[in-house]
This record gives sequence, C-alpha cells and structure tokens, in this order.
Amino acid sequence: MRRGIVWQLLLFAVIAGLIATGMAIFPNWLPDTASEQADRIGDVFWFVTIICAAIFSIVAAALVVSLLRFRAPRGDNFETDGSPIHGHTGLEIVWTAVPFVLVTAIGIYSAVVLAENDKVGDNPLRVDVTSQQFAWSFKYPQQQNLATTVLRLPVDRTVRFHFTALDVLHSFWVPEFSQKQDTVPGIDTYLTVTPNRTGTFPIVCTELCGLGHAIMRSTVIVMEKGAWQRWVQTQTRQAGGGGGANAGKAVFTEAGCAACHTFEPGGATGKVGPDLDKLAEYAQKAGQPLEDFTHESIVDPDAYVEQGFAPNVMPKTYKSLSDQQLTALVEFLTKGGS
Ligand code: CUA
Repeated sequence: MRRGIVWQLLLFAVIAGLIATGMAIFPNWLPDTASEQADRIGDVFWFVTIICAAIFSIVAAALVVSLLRFRAPRGDNFETDGSPIHGHTGLEIVWTAVPFVLVTAIGIYSAVVLAENDKVGDNPLRVDVTSQQFAWSFKYPQQQNLATTVLRLPVDRTVRFHFTALDVLHSFWVPEFSQKQDTVPGIDTYLTVTPNRTGTFPIVCTELCGLGHAIMRSTVIVMEKGAWQRWVQTQTRQAGGGGGANAGKAVFTEAGCAACHTFEPGGATGKVGPDLDKLAEYAQKAGQPLEDFTHESIVDPDAYVEQGFAPNVMPKTYKSLSDQQLTALVEFLTKGGS
C-alpha cells in the first residue's frame, strides 16, 4: 500500500515535471539575448525556472495522488470529517528549511549578477541619452559630441548610458539587452550594457509618457568595431566640415526625420507629419522666406502648424544637433539633393 503511493507520487511527479519543462523550453518566452548582461539575467531566469518546475512537480503529484486515493467513497454523505491530524515536527522543519535555502540562494545569485552587470570596466564608451515626448536622441561625448537618433554601438565594448529626461518619465528598453532603465526629469540615471551580438534591435519607451508613448521608438544597430569606427569618422567629419547637401542628408537620416515625414531627396516616405516636398508651399502660406520658415519649423514646430496636423507632436530633436548640423539640415531641406 505505502509502496504503491510512493510509485504513484513518483510517476505523477515525472509527468508534471515533463509538462513544466516543456512549457519552459518550447514557447519562445524571451527574445534572443544580445548583451553579456542579458546572458547573466537569462542564467538567473533559468535557475529560478528550474526550481519552480521541481516544486511544481512535487506539489502537482501530491495533489493528483490525493485526489485519486483519498477521495470520499461513493455513498459518503459528507457529514463526517476525516480524523483530525495534529502537527508533524519533522515535516514542518523540512517545509520551512527547504524554501529558506531556495529563496536565499535565489537572492544571493541575483545580487551577484546585479553587481556583475553594473561593472563598467576601465574603458567604457559613454553615450548620453536624452528622452522627451516622444523621441530618443543620443550623444557621444568622447566622439566630439556626435549626435544621432539612431543608436549605433560597437560589439563587445561596454557602454555606459547616462540618461536625462526633458519632460516626463520615460524608460529605456532594448528587449535583447534585457534591462530597463527609467529616465527621470531632474535625476541622472545610468545603465551598463555590453553588446555581444551584431544586429539591429528596437529601442522601446516602456513607461507610459503621453499620447505618443506607443510611437516613442528608435533603433540600436550593433556593429563590428571597425565599421563603427568608420561610421564615427564619417559622421564627425561631416558635422565638423559643415555645409554640403551630403552633410544635411546625413543629419536628416540620423535625426530620424524619415520616420514621420515624406521627403524625396532623403528617400523618406513617412506619413505622420507634413510632406516636406511641399515646404515651399507651406512657407508661402506662413508668409515667410523658405529658409527662415524651415529653421523655425525645426526649432519651434508649433509656430506654424500645417492644416490637418496636430501641434505638440514634433519632437525637439534639434536640441541634440550642433549648429552646423542644424544649418546643414535646413540647407538640405530647402535645396534638396542639388
Ligand atoms: Cu516615452 Cu513612453
């Protein structure tokens, strides 16, 4: 009789364990990681998941065996209770000690990973991240303050992000990097990431921050080190060299204008904001010279709002541009590719 119960418990524990393992492994719960920190967090995740699966199989087996073996017999009128059971010191010590050990182990492992994930090493790449309704912009202080709205990072180098928020709370999240970090007006926040896989990943704002929260997205491109160096060189040369439609086009691309605007010379087909191929027409309606109007529309977008479009939508991305970049952008928008 007793032996039978043990075998039954074992059988159902194995079945429940297989189900739990299948549920943990087969659905794609998490994105493929792309940073060292994400890999460590993944290890903690699996450590906790394995413990949970083991506990689940024990509890499920005990439950199923109880249901099968100890159900009320047919014809039982349910008026008599089973005989009362009182206390089992050994059992109580076990079910206190085991969770204590497990929870402590999870706590210690998590603390170790957190500390490890915060290490910046001796040569981190610093990136200043500015968040605002509803856009991200990035600055590289060690690369002549190069500014961009599409984040580009070299693979296998630790990046230290410094976050600022210009208006309300936002939160920086790249699912493949695993970690989230709130950006808070008036407080500097930080995050350490060591990308270890090249590729293009989404940057998501994951703190409800207003009407445009859902579209507050950008992209991070993790590149080979050499390619990243070349990109930095090209960008800083263009920004520093000043002028030329090429420099303006680069600013147009990097500032992310194409996400919302249509502009043929820039190969842009966005439909959120006004069609920039019609800038001259808008300037006429606003009664301003084309260049002044274009400049104003970038730094003070609500001074003139084209019919059919809402105010307070255009991000103040210009704040992350240098004067030269801004001039180059206005030139590109007014003169196009010529
Ligand atoms: Cu910014 Cu949501």
